[in-house]
Amino acid sequence: MQLKNKIIVITGGATGIGRALIAQLLPTNTVISLDRNPAKIEALDKAYPQVYSLQADITIDSEIKAALRGIAKDFGRSDVLINNAAKGIQFNFTNIDEENLKEMLQQEVATNYLAPVLLTHQALSLLEKSPSPAVVFVSSGLAYMPIASFAGYCATKAALHAFAMSLRHQLKNTRIKVIEVLPPTVDTDFNKDIETPKMAPAAFAKACLAQIEKGNSCINIGQSKALLVLSRLLPGFAFKMLNH
Ligand SMILES: NC(=O)c1ccc[n+]([C@@H]2O[C@H](COP(=O)([O-])OP(=O)(O)OC[C@H]3O[C@@H](n4cnc5c(N)ncnc54)[C@H](OP(=O)(O)O)[C@@H]3O)[C@@H](O)[C@H]2O)c1
Repeated sequence: MQLKNKIIVITGGATGIGRALIAQLLPTNTVISLDRNPAKIEALDKAYPQVYSLQADITIDSEIKAALRGIAKDFGRSDVLINNAAKGIQFNFTNIDEENLKEMLQQEVATNYLAPVLLTHQALSLLEKSPSPAVVFVSSGLAYMPIASFAGYCATKAALHAFAMSLRHQLKNTRIKVIEVLPPTVDTDFNKDIETPKMAPAAFAKACLAQIEKGNSCINIGQSKALLVLSRLLPGFAFKMLNH
């Protein structure tokens, strides 16, 4: 798939990986970013005035529906939907009260699993108007093997990974291509407190978009590639390596 003259909708494009993808997509495509935080939207608009920013919390149905109505009215279709926004919360199961645990898990499930699935469903009519539509799910290398302290986050990414595989099969006789991107550790706010080697967002975005253009539908980059192999061949070792 050539990423040129496409109308691309991305969630959480104001920061991190989303912003790096936008920077590389903008010169040749139209990009619409759905973000919920006004200060981040303002900063994105300032850095990239060509971006069409829409304020929407992806976990709030009415906001997503309003954004999609706006896109239908102004652009008529979407060629690519990139489900990128997510949140990750660290917790210790033995040291957290039930209310907080419930609240954290509900937020992660709503943002990382339900929102991309429902947004994709709601965007089907826009995607079907494209001659070569694609939906991208940004999951994580941690879908293969969890980091225990991010138990809820890893579980939602494993769920999204399984969903992407199933949806690819369900849509195999349609024109809609289902792509899953499983990033390694990338240097964003998401993991700013974690001491580990991190890939630069721009390098990640470049590698990711090159793989999409090559037609790959399950994109493992850097550590995620190693994690895929290790989780299959040496699962115990892979778990220990992540949780030393
Ligand atoms: N960085 C890594 O090492 C890494 C590794 C594997 C996978 N990933 C995945 O890559 C994707 C991008 O992450 P990142 O590293 O770029 O982190 P990031 O900079 O924190 O980006 C996530 C974006 O999603 C937005 N967001 C969260 N909840 C939202 C909601 N309900 N509605 C709208 N926007 C929302 C956040 O903004 P606000 O919360 O301020 O609204 C933020 O702008 C995520 O799916 C993440 O799981 C990242």
